[in-house]
Amino acid sequence: MEDIAIICAGGFGREVKMLIDQINSVEQKYNLLGYYDDVIPASTLVNGYPVLGEIEALNNVSTKLNTVVAIALPVLKREVLDRISNPLIVYPILIHPNVQIGQDQVSLGEGCVLCAGNMITVNIKIGKHVIFNLGCTVGHNTTIGDYCSFMPSVNISGEVNIRDGVYVGTGAKIINHLEIGEGTVIGAGAVVYKSLPANCTAVGVPARPVKFHDPI
Ligand SMILES: CC(C)(COP(=O)(O)OP(=O)(O)OC[C@H]1O[C@@H](n2cnc3c(N)ncnc32)[C@H](O)[C@@H]1OP(=O)(O)O)[C@@H](O)C(=O)NCCC(=O)NCCS
Repeated sequence: MEDIAIICAGGFGREVKMLIDQINSVEQKYNLLGYYDDVIPASTLVNGYPVLGEIEALNNVSTKLNTVVAIALPVLKREVLDRISNPLIVYPILIHPNVQIGQDQVSLGEGCVLCAGNMITVNIKIGKHVIFNLGCTVGHNTTIGDYCSFMPSVNISGEVNIRDGVYVGTGAKIINHLEIGEGTVIGAGAVVYKSLPANCTAVGVPARPVKFHDPI
């Protein structure tokens, strides 16, 4: 078994612990050491596993350590990753055993997290540190950039180009042949039927930008 630690012990961190338990229930793969978290004090037990230290402490680790970033917001995920400069920290791809991924030309970057119930079809390129929470679908010929996060039950149709750092709220649907600009946030339940610009928050049915923010 390989050692692994979870970065952040919040709600999603505890769900990632569940994901690791589920992976291990099929094949004993990971030995969970605990969490690294900037808020919860070291030694606190979180669902039975200790907080090992602040995130900065990962820069002092002296042997290879698998880690998984359990942070949904792309901007925070990126900030945390930028703070870790230790080449011994590596980011495996975690995939729940019931996830269905097509055999044809699907690629996933380092650090991707795929929780239970996701279906990724064919000819799909997914960047690094992308989170798919429970039960999402991704259709053919879609490209997804780095640091994106998809909350539960998001459906992405075919031939969608999603740039880096996009966050998609639970239950949102993105129809085919669209582009979603870098850093954009899509609200829960939105139906996106037109391309969206970068760095906006878009909500509703149909989804329309309601505000713009600084680039990430
Ligand atoms: C879109 C979202 C990120 C906006 O958050 P925010 O930046 O704090 O924006 P606000 O709450 O100020 O909302 C801005 C406007 O959009 C509206 N709005 C927010 N979310 C909306 C949604 N999902 N659908 C429709 N309208 C929404 C607000 O009512 C507000 O309208 P108003 O200015 O007329 O009052 C958030 O509401 C959301 O949907 N998050 C997804 C959460 C999620 O999926 N969590 C999963 C956890 S596992």
